[in-house]
Amino acid sequence: MTAKILVLNGPNLNMLGTREPEIYGRESLADVEAACVERGRTLGLEIAFRQSNSEGELMGWIQDARGDFDALIINAAAYTHTSVAILDALRAVDVPVIDVHISNIYQRDEFRQHSYVAMAARAVIAGCGTYGYELALDAAARMLEPTA
Ligand code: DQA
Repeated sequence: MTAKILVLNGPNLNMLGTREPEIYGRESLADVEAACVERGRTLGLEIAFRQSNSEGELMGWIQDARGDFDALIINAAAYTHTSVAILDALRAVDVPVIDVHISNIYQRDEFRQHSYVAMAARAVIAGCGTYGYELALDAAARMLEPTA
């Protein structure tokens, strides 16, 4: 059966490509989605790709992931650094989580250097640009391989 991966994007990532391009690059979120779908095809993964500026909507998607998805890749954007609610939601669902950031958050403002998402994540990818999403899909595929 094809594994299903949910890729969630938080606030302001809908503006990717025009938003601070010196930090986040010039690719749009639609470009990132297309790259994820293509990578998923290669890896045999089905991808659902979503973005919201609302913490509540992201939490609803996380809560509903249990049973429907095999892994969750999330760039919670600014909520990464503020949202205990998202941390609790991620802990409440029994789905492996990968925390992705386009920029290297550990080299930026001090308030960006703590990730609540990372506290619930199996892996963290930061600083690889939008290619980090494809790396996360590779990692998810490996995590989902049956152990011998
Ligand atoms: C980000 C880093 C966050 O600090 C920031 O608020 C974002 C994007 C990243 O992908 O590098 O919106 O998550």
